[in-house]
Amino acid sequence: MSVITFTGCHVVDPAGGRDGMANVTVEGPRVAAVGEQVEGTRVDAAGLVCAPGLVDLHAHLREPGREDAETITTGSAAAAAGGYTAICPMANTDPVCDHAGVVEQVLRLARDAGRCDVYPVGAVTRGLAGGELAEIGAMAAVGVRCFSDDGMPVQSARVMRRALEYARTWDAIIANHAEEATLTEGAEMNESDLSAVLGLHGWPHEAEEIMVARDLLLAGGLGARVHIPHVSTRGTVDLVRQAKIRGVRVTAEATPHHFTLTEDLVSGYDPVYKVNPPLRTAGDVQAVREGLADGTLDAIATDHAPHASEQKDQEWPQAPCGMLGLETALALTLTELVDGGLLSLSDAINRLSTAPARSRDITGQGGPIQTGAPANLVLFDPEARWTVDPAVLHSRSRNTPFAGRRLRGRVVHTLLHGAFTVREGSLVDPLFLTDRSATAPAEERGVIS
Ligand code: DOR
Repeated sequence: MSVITFTGCHVVDPAGGRDGMANVTVEGPRVAAVGEQVEGTRVDAAGLVCAPGLVDLHAHLREPGREDAETITTGSAAAAAGGYTAICPMANTDPVCDHAGVVEQVLRLARDAGRCDVYPVGAVTRGLAGGELAEIGAMAAVGVRCFSDDGMPVQSARVMRRALEYARTWDAIIANHAEEATLTEGAEMNESDLSAVLGLHGWPHEAEEIMVARDLLLAGGLGARVHIPHVSTRGTVDLVRQAKIRGVRVTAEATPHHFTLTEDLVSGYDPVYKVNPPLRTAGDVQAVREGLADGTLDAIATDHAPHASEQKDQEWPQAPCGMLGLETALALTLTELVDGGLLSLSDAINRLSTAPARSRDITGQGGPIQTGAPANLVLFDPEARWTVDPAVLHSRSRNTPFAGRRLRGRVVHTLLHGAFTVREGSLVDPLFLTDRSATAPAEERGVIS
C-alpha cells in the first residue's frame, strides 16, 4: 500500500477539534497518522490547509436523461476539482430517481466515474408529480437517507405529512422544495419594486416562507426529520431559527449564490442569473449570511444546476432556472464569508463538510481526520487568487454567474479514500486512480442488508 505524508499543513478539522499545524500521513485508503511523523513519500504542503473533503447536499448531475448538460462523470469531476469527496445528486432526472433501480444505476455510474462518493437523493413522489409516494422504503433499503422532489414542491400538506411519517420509519429526511405554487405561477424573479420595473412576474418571499412554516409544523408534530434546501429569504432564516429553539428536527442549507448575489443582477435580463428560488434583496442576503454565522443554517450546499447553452442562453422567459456551483463554492465561502468576518476558517469547513455529512448520517466523510479514518481530504491554498473562467470548468455546462469574479482559495489536492482525484491542481485521470472503491462501501452508506 502506498504511504504519503503531507508535511507542514494547517489541519482544519472541526469534527476532531483540530485547527493547527501538523503532518498528515495517508496509507492506502486511510489516514495513518496526524502529527509530527514523516513516513513514505513526502509531499510538501506548507501553506496549504488540509481539511475533510467537502460534502455537497444538493447537486444536479442530470444523468440519466440530460447528459447534454452534465453526466455523473463530468459532475463528479467538477466536484473533485472543487474539493468535494461526497455529493448528493437530486432526483429530478429522466427517468426520475423514484425507485431503487435508478438509485442503483446512479451508484454504478458513480463508482465507474470514481471521483466522488455519491449519495443519491430519492424522490418523495412518483415522477415528482406530487401525488402518490415514491418507493421510499425500497430506496431506503439501498441506502437512500434523504428524499426530495427538488425543483417541484410537494404541494399537498397531506402528501407531505404522509411522506414525513413514512420516512420516519427509517429515520430518513424529507427535503421539500419550498414554494407555494399558487403564489408563484408564472414567476420569473423575486417579487419587488424591481420586478415591477422590469415587467417580470415575481416570486413573493412569502411563497417560500408559507411552505417552510407548514413543513416545520408537520415535521415538529410528527417528530420527523426535515431539511430546508436553498434558503433564500430573511423570513425563512427566522422560521428555521425558531423551529430549532422549539426542538424541531430540522437542518437547513444555503447556496453560495444566495449569500453572494442580489436581484439587481436581473436588470440586464441575462438568464445566467435566473434561478429557483430567485436571487433576493440585499437584506435577504444579509439574513442568509447571519444564519450561516450563527448556525441556524447548518450547511453550504451548491444547488449545482448545469444547463446546456442551447437551453440556458435563451430569452429570459424561456431560459431554465439554475446555476453551476461545485467549482466555486469553497472560494466563494472564503472570499465572501471568511474575509467578510462572518465565519472562521474552521466554521467555514464545518458548513462545507462536517455539518452536511452529519446532517445526512454520512460516515467516513466530514472528518475527523484521525488514524484509521477514511482519507477523504482536500488540501487547498487559502491565499491563491484566481479568476473564474467558465471555459476551463470541468462541468459539461458553462452557466456560472461568477464568470470574471476574482476569488481567494484554490484546490491543490483532493483525495478520495486515499487516492488523488486532483493532484497539484489537475484532475487525475481515473485510469490512474489507485483505489476504484470510489462510492462508499455499503456499510458506510448505511445500507440495510
Ligand atoms: O434553479 C434551480 N434549478 N432550482 C431548482 O430547484 C432546480 C434546479 C434544476 O434542476 O435545474
